Amino acid sequence: MTNWTLKKLSGHCGARLEGLSLASASTSQLEIVRSSLFEHGVIVLPDQYLTPEDHIKLAEFFGEIDVNRFFTPVASHPTIAEVRTTPEQKNVIGGTWHTDHSYDAAPAMCSILSAQQLPPFGGDTHFASMSSAYYAMSSGLQNMLRHLSAWHSDGSFGSSSDVGINPKQDAFRDPVLHPVIIKHPKTGAPCVYVNGDFTLNFENWTIEESIPLLSYLYAFITKPIFTARVVWEPGMVVIWDNRLVQHYATADYSGHTRLMHRITVGGVPLEPF
Ligand SMILES: [Fe+2]
Repeated sequence: MTNWTLKKLSGHCGARLEGLSLASASTSQLEIVRSSLFEHGVIVLPDQYLTPEDHIKLAEFFGEIDVNRFFTPVASHPTIAEVRTTPEQKNVIGGTWHTDHSYDAAPAMCSILSAQQLPPFGGDTHFASMSSAYYAMSSGLQNMLRHLSAWHSDGSFGSSSDVGINPKQDAFRDPVLHPVIIKHPKTGAPCVYVNGDFTLNFENWTIEESIPLLSYLYAFITKPIFTARVVWEPGMVVIWDNRLVQHYATADYSGHTRLMHRITVGGVPLEPF
């Protein structure tokens, strides 16, 4: 990678890769992007301006496309989800930390977001390393969490109509169970796998019993020290590993248009660490 520069965004997650065109990258170059993704959790690639065909081809390098059943597809390319905010929209999607597709039995391994139209300010995306968060916990908490699983549900999409998501009733599925500390399927790293959007409760615990510990975990795992902030640029592409990081969309650009194209790539069932 002689003409590339790969620069870390923060101490615990994210790297910015400059000097590579994803649309014309060779297989061996994309393999380096993939291994960087598993190491850093988030790869930021400026100046890409991918066409929908480029975007799909890139996603297929990583695996089979996992078409999201809640987002509106791009009309001409139904495997691409449209993440759109209109100026008229009162509420902007985002504002909660989560990982994409944790409500699926085999959650998406990565998401690839391609900037189409950006607001004049704001709309940054934050990422947090779930592996660094795990390592920062006491051994007592680590050991307890390693023995727990938690239920995840897509039910929160039922109350998302104010942010432009209107799912069909048959889109909803039964909750699924995942270990609270997963073993990253590629690197074996421990990662905390509960999130505020989709996790319901711990297995064999009531929701009431689960809330205090889940609330503590959500506050702990998203401490600024574990995070990196991506400020979007025209043409930028960001790829993140949904097992290694969680993300947060900053909903601070009300009254402006923001249009992103997103493809999620299929993953595997998650094993405990
Ligand atoms: Fe997301």
